[in-house]
Amino acid sequence: MRILRRKNRPKDLPWKAEGGLSRRAYPDYATYVAHQQAKLARAGSFADYERDYRAALAARLPDVRGRSVLCLAARLGTEVRAFRDAGARAVGVDLNPGSKNTDVLPADFHRLPFRNAAFDAAFSNSLDHALDLAALAAETRRILSPGGIFIVEAVAGSEEGPGPGSYESFFWKRVGDLVGALEKLGWRPGRRVPFTFPWGGDQIVFV
Ligand SMILES: C[S@@+](CC[C@H](N)C(=O)[O-])C[C@H]1O[C@@H](n2cnc3c(N)ncnc32)[C@H](O)[C@@H]1O
Repeated sequence: MRILRRKNRPKDLPWKAEGGLSRRAYPDYATYVAHQQAKLARAGSFADYERDYRAALAARLPDVRGRSVLCLAARLGTEVRAFRDAGARAVGVDLNPGSKNTDVLPADFHRLPFRNAAFDAAFSNSLDHALDLAALAAETRRILSPGGIFIVEAVAGSEEGPGPGSYESFFWKRVGDLVGALEKLGWRPGRRVPFTFPWGGDQIVFV
């Protein structure tokens, strides 16, 4: 068995800060992917999360009735089902959607396996698991139809809340730092609403 030195375990890797944003310093892309894929096996039951986040998210979404929605980093698909509850047609992608998941396809949100303009909206509550925000933002824009919206649920920043846990790869001091970074990448923030469950943060609708 290969024993990793403490400093080489992904969760012990150092963070590199650039202004209000910071990134976990993975030695290569494969280590990032393996670290992200490992999160699911470490989690317990999702029964309560499925019931409670599905209901909370469906209740706080903007009007998505009749829209096609892609959920980025959707894990087992809780948000996909919340979007369907709200009247949308939704599907998800995740690096590790578990087995026999018909709602979430295995894919990397930095390289989406969909044609241009395939969706009316995209959603993610997992931008703190990105490695390359610019690539994610460009791919999201590519798969959205003109006028499409990107709904982001962003956890409170490290100066606003508890800060990153063991699996986050990207973080911000304040949600405003993330919003500013997405603005620089061409996204215009619209409606911004705070929420407190399953963690404190803001829901922002970008166009
Ligand atoms: C905090 S979990 C959130 C899952 C889901 N959104 C939910 O609320 O149940 C973060 C997820 O991001 C996924 N992930 C991390 N990096 C990814 C990437 N590059 N592409 C797609 N999914 C990724 C992980 O596999 C994990 O399921």
